Amino acid sequence: MMRVALVLGTRPEIIKLFPVLTALQAAGADVDIVHTNQHYSPTLDAQFFAELELPAPDWNLEVGSGSHGDQTGRMLVRLDPVLARGDYDWVVVQGDTNSALAGALSAAKLPAQVAHVEAGLRSFDREMPEEVNRRVIDHIADLLLPPTEPAAAQLVAEQVPGTVAPPTGNTVVDAVVSVAGGRRALSERDARILLTLHRGENVDDPGVLAGILGAVGEIAQAEGLGVDFPIHPRTEGRIRASRIALHPAIEVSAPTSFRRLVELESRARLVLTDSGGLQEECCVLGTPCVTLRTTTERPETVAVGANVVAGVEPGGIVEGARRMLALEDNAWEQPFGDGRAGERIAGLLSAGTPALAGG
Ligand code: UD1
Repeated sequence: MMRVALVLGTRPEIIKLFPVLTALQAAGADVDIVHTNQHYSPTLDAQFFAELELPAPDWNLEVGSGSHGDQTGRMLVRLDPVLARGDYDWVVVQGDTNSALAGALSAAKLPAQVAHVEAGLRSFDREMPEEVNRRVIDHIADLLLPPTEPAAAQLVAEQVPGTVAPPTGNTVVDAVVSVAGGRRALSERDARILLTLHRGENVDDPGVLAGILGAVGEIAQAEGLGVDFPIHPRTEGRIRASRIALHPAIEVSAPTSFRRLVELESRARLVLTDSGGLQEECCVLGTPCVTLRTTTERPETVAVGANVVAGVEPGGIVEGARRMLALEDNAWEQPFGDGRAGERIAGLLSAGTPALAGG
């Protein structure tokens, strides 16, 4: 029986590996969940295990927060014996977090076979910790699982040593369709904006954070829209420490369940976010998205007209929001696959590297 370790640690990894876990279990694999506990607050962690009815992690490394080096280092120290003892056929990591980096690095040096879900994404901004992580993971993984054709082409162009699988689709589609109905027309949307904000480069500098939140208030005021703001603990702490006053249209709430987040996304007139996952989810759900960053590693969303990359200056954010609020139609093409990525990934892992074409 194939033995697989899914190494995860943060909210998006729990959601995006859930379809892989389900498909692996259906294929009869023996799967261990190895949780670094990079995310440990119940609203970022236990809430999703309960909601998605996931089994408790087989291993919880209880690493928690810290500087990048401290956090990643502690993960490595605790992962090495767990992965060595497990004698896994595959160690699977997803995306670009410090947990994914540590999982890949620990496994690659055992050595154990590493598979990278959502491989080949690039923002080309090497100051972003996630860009460093995803580049390193892609260059040490044995099996690269790109979600889209451009991501696969990027891996081939970089001549990664591992095997590049054909595009699998993104598991975010599997997760979204498991909780959502079809696309809601823009004319049927609530008079609401959904805002999420958590990246260090946006929330750690009080000037940048105040500028973004000021722009959100300006848009809400000018367009007569309310704002739902489920807040990451990091952002909440920074707003409190800097004593930033929020516009009264902005309604703060605790980080929400996946089901409620998808509901908010599918009812909102507009999403403002610095999250990668929300850019994808909006594209799937037909919700216009303004990305509060200067780059994106999800250019497919921009190409189909679902997303604009507005930067973090207030003027650019207001302009981007106006542009996306002016859209009358949300019938754009959906570039992330058919919702069967988990199944495809489980099939590729079961087939093993030699059976794959290309690479
Ligand atoms: C991490 C990922 C990011 C991903 C995000 C999803 C890295 C480098 N970053 O960012 O790519 O988009 O998860 O949410 O891996 N905190 C809590 N409770 C928690 C976790 C964190 O209060 O459960 C607070 C702490 O103050 C902590 C800060 O948030 O220092 C940052 O947490 P960290 O895990 O380092 O990164 P995220 O910002 O969550």
